[in-house]
This record gives sequence, C-alpha cells and structure tokens, in this order.
Amino acid sequence: MNDMTRPDALDPPYLYPGYKSSVLRSPREPLLELPPGTLDVPGPTVPRGFVRNGDNDLTGHGKSAPLGEKMVLTGRLLDADGRPIRRSLVEIWQANASGRYAHPGDQHDAPLDPNFLGKGRTLTDDEGRYRFVTVKPGAYPWRNHPYAWRPQHIHFSLFGNAPVQRLITQMYFPGDPLLAIDPIYNSVPDGEARPRMVCTLSLETGIEEVALGYTFDIVLGGAKATPLGI
Ligand SMILES: [Fe+2]
Repeated sequence: MNDMTRPDALDPPYLYPGYKSSVLRSPREPLLELPPGTLDVPGPTVPRGFVRNGDNDLTGHGKSAPLGEKMVLTGRLLDADGRPIRRSLVEIWQANASGRYAHPGDQHDAPLDPNFLGKGRTLTDDEGRYRFVTVKPGAYPWRNHPYAWRPQHIHFSLFGNAPVQRLITQMYFPGDPLLAIDPIYNSVPDGEARPRMVCTLSLETGIEEVALGYTFDIVLGGAKATPLGI
C-alpha cells in the first residue's frame, strides 16, 4: 500500500494484559528483523470475479430481510496524504442484530438469524470509496472478565497488494457506553486516536425510510491514521 508512516502509540501492543487472549498469543521473544521487502512481494491480486455483484449487501442472501436495524455503511480508504486507495479489497464480518456470529465457535445464548451470515466484501472505487448494506450488530458477552460484553462493532480486513500487507481493524458506533470499559478499544494507547475507530451517523447516506446511514473513513498513515491491528 501507499505511505504507511504511522504515529507512535497508535496501534495496540501485542501484549495488553487487560485483553486476556493477548497474554497467551503475544510473542515472548523479540521479533525477527527481515530485510525490507523480503515478504512484501506483490500479488496475488484479487482474481476477476472474486467480488461478485451483491457481495456488499449482507441483507440480501436470505429468503427475507434479516432482523435488526438496517444500515448503509460508506467510507473511503485513504493514504497519509488523503489520496484514495483504489480498487482495493475491503472485507467485513460481524455479529447479527442479536450479537451472535454465524460461526460454530459462537455458541452463546442468542438466536442465529437464518437470513444473516454477517460477511461481505467489495472493492473500493476510483475515489477509494466503499459501500456496504447491512444491519447494526448487537453487543455480545465474552469471557475476558466477569460480566464482559463487547461493544457493537464491525470487523474490517484490508487486503492491500500483497498477502503480508493485510490489515485489520474494528469499527464501533457513536455513543456506545461499552466503549469506556472495552479492553480491546482501550488497548489503543493514544486516547485521542480511539474515536477514529468510531463511525459517524450520516442520515443522508442511508436509504430514506429503510436504512440508517453511517460513514467510516480508514486512513492508513499520517497524523490522522486509523488504529489498526485490532
Ligand atoms: Fe467481534
């Protein structure tokens, strides 16, 4: 990808004790230094046909509409200088409106929705824009600590131009009281950077009488960079 100069204290450390699973998975040894470019080989590019029409509409796969608050999520993928990242694969995954993932690993006591799988993909356009139609995910309990619940969130994957460029982050919703106590959100060291993971309500980018609009730009570098690795 383009300029990836990122400020200090922007991305969470590998080890953040308040986020319990980071204790087990974080490296115990110093990371190996590789010569620049060793793994950053281009390709494979996204094959033609990999992103199909409708893959950006998470509400259209079932026999009827999924339960929940329908929303349109739009935004731009930008480099440090505000230039668009064009024709780049953006993938999302999320829980359904009840806070349950359509995944065998999620067995908590909330209903699955047969009309919602919770995954979508799209390519950015020439202005770096993406657009998804989905439902607002529910909060869900997790076993990080007693009474722990994750704030409502959507996971993002940005594929880049080479496999080792893949980036991930999480997007949150404005006004969520769970943000203040969420270890993952708060693992971003710079408190001023955390709100850059929160989308903005934008009614006019929704669909009138159908879907709420939210916007979320992802900035890969510079002073306004979005926290990544979350
Ligand atoms: Fe999640």
